[in-house]
Amino acid sequence: MIRGRTAEKGLRDYVKGIIMEEKVQFTLNGKQTSVTVDSDRMLLWVLRTTLGLTGTKYGCGQSLCGACTVLVNNEAVRSCMTPVKEVKGKTVLTIEGLEANGALHPLQKAFMDSDALQCGYCTPGMIMSAYAFLVGHPRASTADIVSGMDDNLCRCGAHTRILQAIQHAAQEMSGGQ
Ligand code: FES
Ligand code: FES
Repeated sequence: MIRGRTAEKGLRDYVKGIIMEEKVQFTLNGKQTSVTVDSDRMLLWVLRTTLGLTGTKYGCGQSLCGACTVLVNNEAVRSCMTPVKEVKGKTVLTIEGLEANGALHPLQKAFMDSDALQCGYCTPGMIMSAYAFLVGHPRASTADIVSGMDDNLCRCGAHTRILQAIQHAAQEMSGGQ
């Protein structure tokens, strides 16, 4: 037992010795945030486990599905492949930061109204990708939206309703024009 504990402590010290923890500061959902972590750790895990923001999902871990999408300096990035050191001094927006003053963002509302989900696992990544896309393409056509969202996968096959929701939100975001 004692020997086991000694071995465990030895292993912990060894791991500590090879992992370089450092302070990483960034703005998260509008608030200054500071974490002291292995700066090579992926942003997804810092958000989910260090900061407790579990809205951002782990799907493939290989930049293939989009479930982990967040915005960094207003651009959609795959947090599963983004070391946290890369967001130093930048702004990060997650699904938790999208509502304003207690009101859902038009995209969140449109996903609910269009019932654009089944299990909901892809939904935060879909919404964050759509948000980044619509901010950059306020007058996107249906074809533009389909191609802009091409890299986000929904395993439940809710794509038709997802597209509908994004179209409705696009109209609302552009003031109904
Ligand atoms: S979990 Fe990051 S792209 Fe799939
Ligand atoms: S709603 Fe289940 S993966 Fe998209």
